[in-house]
Amino acid sequence: MLVDTNDIGECGLVSHLEPVDRLKLVKPSGIRQFFALAQEMPLCFNLSVGEPDFCVPWHALDGGWRAVKEGRTHYAPTNGVPELRDALAQKAYRDYGLNYDSNCEVLVTVGGTQAIFIALMALLNPGAEVLIPDPGFVVYEPCVLLAGGIPVHVSLREDNDFRPSMDDVTSLITNKSRVMILNYPNNPTGSMLSYDEVAALSKIAVDCDLVVISDEVYEKIVYDGAKHYCLATFPGMRERTLVINSFSKTYAMTGLRVGCVYGPKELVSRLWLINQYTVACVDTFSQYVALGALKGPQDCVAEMVKEFDRRRHLVHKRLNEFEGFKCQLPKGAFYAFPNIRGSSLSSEQLAEKLVKQASVLTVPGSSFGACGEGYLRLSYASSYKDLEEALDRMEMVLKKHG
Ligand SMILES: Cc1ncc(COP(=O)(O)O)c(C=O)c1O
Repeated sequence: MLVDTNDIGECGLVSHLEPVDRLKLVKPSGIRQFFALAQEMPLCFNLSVGEPDFCVPWHALDGGWRAVKEGRTHYAPTNGVPELRDALAQKAYRDYGLNYDSNCEVLVTVGGTQAIFIALMALLNPGAEVLIPDPGFVVYEPCVLLAGGIPVHVSLREDNDFRPSMDDVTSLITNKSRVMILNYPNNPTGSMLSYDEVAALSKIAVDCDLVVISDEVYEKIVYDGAKHYCLATFPGMRERTLVINSFSKTYAMTGLRVGCVYGPKELVSRLWLINQYTVACVDTFSQYVALGALKGPQDCVAEMVKEFDRRRHLVHKRLNEFEGFKCQLPKGAFYAFPNIRGSSLSSEQLAEKLVKQASVLTVPGSSFGACGEGYLRLSYASSYKDLEEALDRMEMVLKKHG
């Protein structure tokens, strides 16, 4: 076929094949890139993804099977099946004393990921600034960019236990700031916020008229009796907070894709509108599994967290024995985020070395933002036995060449 050279875009592609401008702003996630590398390696230990190795609780699956047998395989309402929204509203009251109207203040989403995306699509005018944590969950920056906003990085430093400094936050706010994204318990650092810190961040949000997207998908995965504080419970916050939650981590339901958003109806209605024209509804079967998960006994969650705790201690102890590694004990979620500066390799070089020489897949800290450089993220959501084996392999490589 003849190609008219006038049709060739800047990057040498025929113009209709060239990515649209907003897609040029975003790169594939660093996690996926390393994951693809590991696919080519047989017997690779994958410590890169945040995916609990547990099965979905039986009573939850049973809820889904029953719904299917009863013929509930059709479209669900765009905002979620009413029984699930009711159960989610009850959960918010039970856990945090928050009253949400299940008809208009709770929205079921395709996991927490889609909730974050539609929240930003609904909240940002072009050029609006969004405070995002750095290092932070890989989805935030691309979603802000796709929604036309400008990400403003708030450094989370190790010497402050990876929590934001209030002075930093205040100094980054301008007259274009609209949204602050917070994520505690935190991915990738495993850190948590104290009551006073949540109160101080809330006060900044109220004083500066910011909407907060509070990503609380790890709310149940906390250790040593630590308490998670839901942002929406602080003075002036319920009306300006979108709380994001998900069934992925708490009930090991990553593949079933159910999340939710809680917020004031003025905000939730905008996200609902986007859902009408993009997903129509969340998978009906999965919503009934989620309902079964919420309605049934919750000891499965406590058991899973107990096992994560055992793995947390193993990973923390072993990583600190490696030359050039220094690792804080994570307080929540299921990630270790060791400082690897002593290895004299960049985080990408070290992750590549580990995958090639030890067949252990980790994520370079730089994938989570510039402030993540000098760190590595390891998920301890894999089995204890796999973690032991992976750490043994890492040790061999790090001792030999470290
Ligand atoms: C901080 C954080 N938020 C949200 C999500 C989204 O999870 P999902 O879309 O499976 O609910 C993840 C997943 O890794 C996460 O780490």
